[in-house]
Amino acid sequence: MTEERRTACRDDWEAHQLTMPEPIPPPARVWTSDVMDEIRRGYVPHIMDEKWFIFMEGDRLFLHRSWTGLGVYEATFTAADGGFVIGSAVVTGDRTQYKRSSDQDESLILETIITGHLLREPPSASEPADKSPHLRWELSVPNIPREMFFPQVVEAAGPELSLVVGDITELPVDAIVNAANSTLLGGGGVDGAIHRAAGPELLEHCRTLGGCETGQAKITPGFDLAARWVIHTVGPVWGGGGLGEPELLASCYRESLARADEVGVATVAFPGISTGVYGYPIEAAAAIAVETVRATRTNVTEVRFVAFNQATYDAYSALL
Ligand code: APR
Repeated sequence: MTEERRTACRDDWEAHQLTMPEPIPPPARVWTSDVMDEIRRGYVPHIMDEKWFIFMEGDRLFLHRSWTGLGVYEATFTAADGGFVIGSAVVTGDRTQYKRSSDQDESLILETIITGHLLREPPSASEPADKSPHLRWELSVPNIPREMFFPQVVEAAGPELSLVVGDITELPVDAIVNAANSTLLGGGGVDGAIHRAAGPELLEHCRTLGGCETGQAKITPGFDLAARWVIHTVGPVWGGGGLGEPELLASCYRESLARADEVGVATVAFPGISTGVYGYPIEAAAAIAVETVRATRTNVTEVRFVAFNQATYDAYSALL
């Protein structure tokens, strides 16, 4: 069946209570006792690509998005002939957080997530070998279109996302985001470009800010830039993925949008934070950027992801 997996519990990951529950038809499948043992173990994601954090309390299974901790599904199991069935199941009805599908499709997706993540059916051979078994399985899910299997977290009034190619300092948006370092006193890469384009007043202003923590963001005027504001955020230096880099990178996007909301910004442009000098793998960073912006409540109406090289363009266009 599957290698030994320790039992997940609510405290193993970020888990926010499912809100506005809507009943969905429980999948009809009968789960044998052996299979129920696997289901009871739940699943803690190993890498940020894996979308679900799953744990069981009593007879109720809780399925949360790994990126945001959102409670998406809950399913209550009950004994039946031949093993166990799902007696009742709900999906979140909060459309600002989760774009649900029809009852039938949601029921199918719930069953597929359980089968794929907890029972780990063998992935199809055609999937890239470098993907984790779970990810290969999810990507190879038959009969469910990928975009439906990965229900995007959609803010009903969330920002429109787009991908642009070019120099962020030239964009006519309200605010551009700078991939800064903790001193906020300039550097190379996009930081250097922004300071050059903004002129010396930007550095003078930054000297008064007292630096910035990794994962945080501070806003300044744009001075000579086309953009009215610059939001300086400090991304994590990539250290292999086990030092909290994904959470810190997600925080950069959340905090940048928070600074934008504080001054009533409508349009924001982001470079690929941490994907240059700081060495963050572009595909993983782009996924975190898009997923976090989609999951963050904000009044910003348009977010442009700026690609300054082909790899960045390819990574974002695969997601958008
Ligand atoms: N416009 C848009 N994107 C740009 C520009 C530009 N003018 N210049 C560089 N980029 C892109 C890079 O190609 C990369 O995809 O910005 C992304 C981030 O790369 P870096 O600027 O190196 O930022 P980061 O990886 O976060 O490292 C931050 O580098 O410049 C120093 O002071 C900065 O110490 C900090 C570190």
